[in-house]
Amino acid sequence: MLPELLPRPAAIAPEEYRQRREALMAQLPKGAALIVPGASLVTRSHDSEYAFRQQSDFYYLTGIQEPDALLVLLPGREAGQSVVFCQDRDPTMESWTGRRLGAHGVESLHGIDQAFENADRDEQLSGLLVGCDLLYLPLDNSEAISIAEEALANAQAGQRRGKPALKGWLDSRPLIHEMRLIKSPTEIALLRHAAVISAQAHIRAMRTCRVGLSEYQLQAELEHEFVWQGASGPAYSTIVGGGANACVLHYIENSAVLKPDTLVLIDAGAEFDLYAGDITRTFPVNGRFNEAQRALYQVVLDAQERAIQAVAPGVTLVDIHQGVAWDLTAGLIALGLLEGDVQARIDDESYRRFYLHSTSHWLGLDVHDVGSYRLDEETPRPLMAGMVITIEPGLYIPCEDDIPVAYRGMGIRIEDNIAVTSSGHEVLTSGAPKQIAEIEALMVKK
Ligand code: GLY
Ligand code: MN
Ligand code: MN
Repeated sequence: MLPELLPRPAAIAPEEYRQRREALMAQLPKGAALIVPGASLVTRSHDSEYAFRQQSDFYYLTGIQEPDALLVLLPGREAGQSVVFCQDRDPTMESWTGRRLGAHGVESLHGIDQAFENADRDEQLSGLLVGCDLLYLPLDNSEAISIAEEALANAQAGQRRGKPALKGWLDSRPLIHEMRLIKSPTEIALLRHAAVISAQAHIRAMRTCRVGLSEYQLQAELEHEFVWQGASGPAYSTIVGGGANACVLHYIENSAVLKPDTLVLIDAGAEFDLYAGDITRTFPVNGRFNEAQRALYQVVLDAQERAIQAVAPGVTLVDIHQGVAWDLTAGLIALGLLEGDVQARIDDESYRRFYLHSTSHWLGLDVHDVGSYRLDEETPRPLMAGMVITIEPGLYIPCEDDIPVAYRGMGIRIEDNIAVTSSGHEVLTSGAPKQIAEIEALMVKK
């Protein structure tokens, strides 16, 4: 029987993209304009390219999925405040690489006020920027900086003839990234869908797992499920780490054979409509936790569940991380992996030998999503409804002589995706089993 296809959420409507552009323009000082280039295709080898992935800020403001586009926002311009330059219509190229929107499609399908094809860009763009005295652009983007430099040169030439002059440019990213931090209900629905697909994929990997398979075979199960469910693929490189490979945080070789009496850590999430899922589950290759695995796993799970319970408006990620550090340290002491008093082991940071990453990150169009984690240098940012985060404690036990043999090389991480709501939180990834009994029931002993 073919797997069930999950119901898809609605796509984000052009009107929501328009509202985002208007909210952004409302923050610009008088006389300012803003440019955001989209992504281009990237060569993979010789004449073939990586699958296209739109630049997230450009996508957030337009919903347009074509390469080589440019958004220009011109607050107050009578002929249209939102302008997009897009690929030229080209029947020959379109018969090789697919249909293009063209200027007409950008306007009619995406609600952009005015669009031009790239053949007209040089001629049109400099005219659009005349009279703008401050330009906002992504300072990490060389194409945007070239546009600004040319506009500055044009303005300086124009100034000599008495026209208004561009005075300089500022980074557009902080403004856009603040907006991206708070997700709308339609964005939450897309993140929930990416999370549900990701959870299904983890279930599929648990069901398939057995001794003697290779890590890449579980990767294949996960990624099959992503694409089967209409996701574009993984939101980041899938991590399948058997045994001590789980202790390499970004292990993506996925080449080893899965061995009996070991755990496998899978960190994998689907990208749906550019929104990321990001789930980690850790389970025994042969379907039954041994005593040491069970004990260490329960420490991580208890810490993770307590952290999730704490998620609510007003709480900070620093508070959550400190709670996790406390719980993990207490667990390590109880298991004999650390000695002494919890506070002393936190103060001397000896727990960091086993837990070296932080507990959470923002999640959205980017897996490590944008937005500042602090209000200022000193002040961590309180959570607000509409933020989406991960909670992902882990313990990674080195293969070293002072470690009890039963724990050596064990790596456990449990990661869920959590939306902050006005009354607390919603766990988007609750479909992925994590209780020991649930996992063992799903994985018939192999
Ligand atoms: N998958 C990357 C992370 O969990 O942060
Ligand atoms: Mn994560
Ligand atoms: Mn992850």
